[in-house]
Amino acid sequence: MMYVTRRMNFSASHRLYNPTFSDEKNEAIFDKCNNFHGHGHNYVLDVTVKGVPDPETGYVIDLKQLRDILDELIIDKVDHKHLNFDVDFLQGIIPTAENITLAFWNLLANKLPAGELHSIKLYESENNVVEYFGEPVTIQRYATATQQTSLDM
Ligand code: NI
Repeated sequence: MMYVTRRMNFSASHRLYNPTFSDEKNEAIFDKCNNFHGHGHNYVLDVTVKGVPDPETGYVIDLKQLRDILDELIIDKVDHKHLNFDVDFLQGIIPTAENITLAFWNLLANKLPAGELHSIKLYESENNVVEYFGEPVTIQRYATATQQTSLDM
């Protein structure tokens, strides 16, 4: 088995807050990330596909094809956007690196023309990184208990 990675970049803003919390609690939990008008990151996204090289091409997956898929499904939707407001698949979700990564996985998992999605690694900054290998995790939407919905991954 071999592991092939395509790196993508995007810039986006977000604000971390939970509307079901008080202002004080949001401030206490999210601190600077709770800044009212948001703040930005230059995200780095590493998507790794596992498989064996195709005997005719020598590729596990054609990385140009993977780049085009990532552009279409993810980058075009998040680059230069405000993640709290502009991105349909992040509505109702606190846009932490964890939740963004889960949402990306959900978008990509069954969309690859070759190989199998192995991992998604999202660098929110040089020092803060989330990596996901597809073990079952549920994205929790911030709704009151009676309204709560979830997106099973
Ligand atoms: Ni942030």
